[in-house]
Amino acid sequence: MNVYDSEQMERLLATMNYRPTSHQEKADLIIINTCSIRDKAEHKVYSHLGRLARLKLKKPNLVIGVGGCVAQQEGDRLLKRAPHVDIVFGTFSISRLPSLIRRVTHEKKQAVDVEPTGTVEPSHIKPTNFQEARATAFVTVMRGCDNFCTYCVVPYLRGRELSRRPERILEEIRHLVAKGVREVTLLGQNVNSYGLKNGHGLDFPALLEAVNDIEGLSRLRFTTSHPKDLSDKLIRAFGRLDKLAPHMHLPVQSGSDRILKRMNRGYTTGNYLARIEKLRKAQPNIAITSDIIVGFPGEGKTDFEETLNLVESVGFDNLYIFKYSNRKNTPAFRFSDKVQEAVKGERFARLLELQSKITLEKNRGLVGTVQEVLIEGLSKKGYDQVTGHTPCNKTVNLSDGGVCVGQLVPVSIAEAFSHSLLGAPSECCGKLPGEKGGILHAA
Ligand code: 5AD
Ligand code: SF4
Repeated sequence: MNVYDSEQMERLLATMNYRPTSHQEKADLIIINTCSIRDKAEHKVYSHLGRLARLKLKKPNLVIGVGGCVAQQEGDRLLKRAPHVDIVFGTFSISRLPSLIRRVTHEKKQAVDVEPTGTVEPSHIKPTNFQEARATAFVTVMRGCDNFCTYCVVPYLRGRELSRRPERILEEIRHLVAKGVREVTLLGQNVNSYGLKNGHGLDFPALLEAVNDIEGLSRLRFTTSHPKDLSDKLIRAFGRLDKLAPHMHLPVQSGSDRILKRMNRGYTTGNYLARIEKLRKAQPNIAITSDIIVGFPGEGKTDFEETLNLVESVGFDNLYIFKYSNRKNTPAFRFSDKVQEAVKGERFARLLELQSKITLEKNRGLVGTVQEVLIEGLSKKGYDQVTGHTPCNKTVNLSDGGVCVGQLVPVSIAEAFSHSLLGAPSECCGKLPGEKGGILHAA
């Protein structure tokens, strides 16, 4: 969601003739878009701002802005702690960024806007020209959250759930496809309640169906669905929509019913497992990933053992594991039975070890198969390798045999690691489907 918000900022800045630069020292304006879901993310903001203070000493006209959740939470306090910052703008204020910048550049005043008001519709749905060819994009379809899990700051910093209008979402995706994007991921904190509150006529499965019909789009993903609201209609979409990738990210958070209750998650492990079974019936190849918090207040040895058991029995394709982070203003902040850092660390390591084994085993099962990979760009390793994802969202690196960004390439999988797969195009490049995309390497 922050990536999408940053792109919104880029679109707005383009209207003011700002252009991106990859050299920080050359910038006239630097904006840090921040996250405060865990304290580590928040600390990073301040250490980054510390480095920018030195840059500003050398370049006094540099404008520094801080946006996102840390800005929303801190407001004026952020200016006290980092007086070299010029603009603090919260999660509701992105569309007002141009006028905030003008206030700084014309009136030479610091500007703070953390008003929790604004429209859910982004003001610019047309992407700016991509600097490099792009195959994938995020599109936020709803903002905010009404769930109030006891550990989470999102409802306080991003407000109540609001859905965007379907016609604007579809128009935005058409613009992206026209620029070469082949896969979109629809974003919301709980996509299952899309359109239910400020009804625009379509619920989430119906929105997926409309996106599925967009010509030129090859793949469709979404995140995140809350297990308590995962409807049969959404599950059925996996069997019906040809572009909907067989991957579901379904955060379980804990394998202990007692802890789930304290987290205010609204389901039991029994409900969760029943949803997984239904998903696998509707789409037998579906990859399932999840989020788990270890060391939530009151989590005892038995609770954690139950989490290990659940992870083992589901067999997730991948897991994002977090150590519980105490967030101000959340109900769990006041829970007295906090788990010691060392215990959290131990549990984190044990769960990670278990999941790495499961992931590696699953990845090894793909060796020898042919997977359809959407080429996204050069791999981290260097210029002779490109990277992309399978429909189940596994990262695949392959030798650059003259393939293009945005091309769907059948890849034969040769080796499996715990974070990626290695393969080679399974047909000669000349025979690959010649979809239009940015040329990564001239064939
Ligand atoms: N501490 C640790 N992890 C958290 N998450 C949300 N809030 C916290 C917190 N206070 C995790 C949840 C969520 C993911 C996006 O971040 O697992 O699903
Ligand atoms: Fe946070 Fe829970 Fe909402 Fe997810 S569903 S954003 S964890 S409050």
